[in-house]
Amino acid sequence: MNFDQKYWTERYQSGQTGWDAGTITTPIKEYIDQISDRELRILIPGCGMGYEAEYLFAQGFRNVFVLDISEEPLIAFSKRVPGFPVEQLLCGDFFEHDAQYDLVIEQTFFCALAPVMRQQYAFHMGKIIKPAGKLVGLLFDFPLTTEGPPFGGSKDEYLHYFCNGFEIDIMDRAYNSIKPRQGRELFFIAKKNIE
Ligand SMILES: C[S@@+](CC[C@H](N)C(=O)[O-])C[C@H]1O[C@@H](n2cnc3c(N)ncnc32)[C@H](O)[C@@H]1O
Repeated sequence: MNFDQKYWTERYQSGQTGWDAGTITTPIKEYIDQISDRELRILIPGCGMGYEAEYLFAQGFRNVFVLDISEEPLIAFSKRVPGFPVEQLLCGDFFEHDAQYDLVIEQTFFCALAPVMRQQYAFHMGKIIKPAGKLVGLLFDFPLTTEGPPFGGSKDEYLHYFCNGFEIDIMDRAYNSIKPRQGRELFFIAKKNIE
């Protein structure tokens, strides 16, 4: 199966969007709520409907960028959040995205990729996150099988991908997951090493 732009656009067009929580999830919201620096340059890759960006923007963060390979959710986002700068709505492939961020937020993007792309995901995060910047978010914690997306995985597997270039501040079972994901996800903060 090719999880390409066509695949994702068809999922949106046919309404097969079971991943869509309909709102920002609690672990991400609580993380954002303790950030004081409103100047941070933040990326939400594989943003889908971009609830995290909507929340950040409403809280006064202005350097927020959303990126998705499919235009469908970006169109929906711009209708929902009309004040959001159009130049910060990016349609494209994460693996070809070239910019620098202080913070990247992971919310059901990693698990949507073909598992063979996981090491490349970590390498690419290493390229786009500034030294001492952070990758923060959620990773599923259930066995990886051929079934997916979402594709599962384990803490040991994830730690392996980030062992070069990042320091893991935390990667633990989330205590504040939304109900359908309770006991099934890890909250993590990976800090990019200072080269
Ligand atoms: C499972 S959905 C999650 C969407 C959103 N983060 C959420 O939690 O509702 C995965 C998203 O990643 C996007 N996507 C998949 N591969 C991508 C890639 N290589 N680059 C950018 N976006 C991608 C899809 O279009 C889709 O919107």
